[in-house]
Amino acid sequence: MHLRISQVARTKKKFNMADAGAPIGIFDSGIGGMTVARALADLLPYENMIYFGDTAHLPYGDKSTAAIQAYCIKICNMLLQQDCKLILIACNSASAAAFDLVREYIGTRAKAMNVIDPVVEYIKEPYANKTIGLIGTRQTVQSNVYKKKIDLLGKGITLKSLATPLLAPMIEEGFFDNSVSISVLGQYLSDPELTDIDALILGCTHYPLLKPEIENYYEGKVRVLDTSEIVANSVKAWLEQHYLINRSGTGAREFFVSDFTTSFESSTKIFFGSKIRLQHYPLWD
Ligand code: DGL
Repeated sequence: MHLRISQVARTKKKFNMADAGAPIGIFDSGIGGMTVARALADLLPYENMIYFGDTAHLPYGDKSTAAIQAYCIKICNMLLQQDCKLILIACNSASAAAFDLVREYIGTRAKAMNVIDPVVEYIKEPYANKTIGLIGTRQTVQSNVYKKKIDLLGKGITLKSLATPLLAPMIEEGFFDNSVSISVLGQYLSDPELTDIDALILGCTHYPLLKPEIENYYEGKVRVLDTSEIVANSVKAWLEQHYLINRSGTGAREFFVSDFTTSFESSTKIFFGSKIRLQHYPLWD
């Protein structure tokens, strides 16, 4: 096996206790990553967090791989300037398009994590030889990244995936738990591609906001996997293994967006209440 120089450097990185107080950086195209940020805040209340929503470039799901990679590098620069100890790509589309590049780029400066690997690891044993459905953006589904990683497990898991490009913009507009979302979901979930599945992966961090409606649709017959909790648990486990849990922080949270709108600000309050204050941080001047 050949390791590239940066990989060698990464394996040698030693974290020290001083790093534990550094913030966790999280980013997504918009509010979707807040489902993960919320789950993380519940699990690790003393961690300081910096959230970046790239609202100027939303939705990522329909962008080219090259465009998403360029956005991710810009965002990582901003988070690295804030000395984040861990940078979580809280977006499946960006995880699919840019994780390898981001990990290489960040190198030893912070730990890079994505939202796909923890979910693949999670289904490995309980869903061996079963059939799993996946819904996500075009970028995530067409990249085939879930299928490639699931096939590598060698557990006989069959994956049936469907791109559901209307869902993320619909959620960003505040359409969930209403007649519009019920009707759009009904159309997508009745697609023949998703028949006879044992569980459904919500392969976009926006989708946990639709979880109750999706569960209602399946009437308990299909387990709906809330990826935000799975990812949050995996971040916690990594921090624990590296003695990097912040046990004495104030739980400070800062939220940045690349394009400020008041409607976006009010949507974000769903997750962190009225305390949230968005700061405008343009990626390109
Ligand atoms: N929340 C994102 C994801 O997990 C992105 C949705 C979008 O911007 O298209 O894929």
